[in-house]
Amino acid sequence: MKRILIITFALFAATFFQAQADELSDRKQLMKSINDYMKILQAQTQDFDANIVSIQATNIAVALESVKTLFSEKGVGETAAKDEIWQDYDRFLELFANSIQASETAAASADMDSLRSNFRKLSRSCGGCHRNFRIRKQ
Ligand code: HEC
Repeated sequence: MKRILIITFALFAATFFQAQADELSDRKQLMKSINDYMKILQAQTQDFDANIVSIQATNIAVALESVKTLFSEKGVGETAAKDEIWQDYDRFLELFANSIQASETAAASADMDSLRSNFRKLSRSCGGCHRNFRIRKQ
């Protein structure tokens, strides 16, 4: 019985730590794809197509919605997430909400001029969080 308990615990621990590792790598991966969508969206500020803008900016909104659920804790592994995230989690979530709102506004841009202004606001919303909650790369 004791042995079974130990094995069960070992399996539980392995699954638990695996899940944490995945959360960390998933959020880094998702942030990277958000950056790729941003590049496509930025190109649209020179060559506007409402359809592409809507799709790419919506991709950003959806990806931000998912990535915000992947910060349940710091995780084990290489991360640029600051401890401040978990000290001020409400503020962190609020900044996600701002960024999601900005990407939805960008998705509805009617023309190149409004996309330019909406894109600027959207990039500022990324920086607004990174400045406080992400360790700056050397
Ligand atoms: C509310 C906070 C927040 C918002 C909003 C946010 N990010 Fe991030 N981002 C982070 C944090 C924290 C990390 C570090 C994650 C880690 O290393 O664990 C990160 C990491 C990244 C990375 C590096 C990924 C890697 O490890 O290679 C990129 C690129 C990135 N974000 C792009 C963006 C873009 C573009 C936006 C806006 C559309 C955005 N982020 C919005 C908090 C945010």
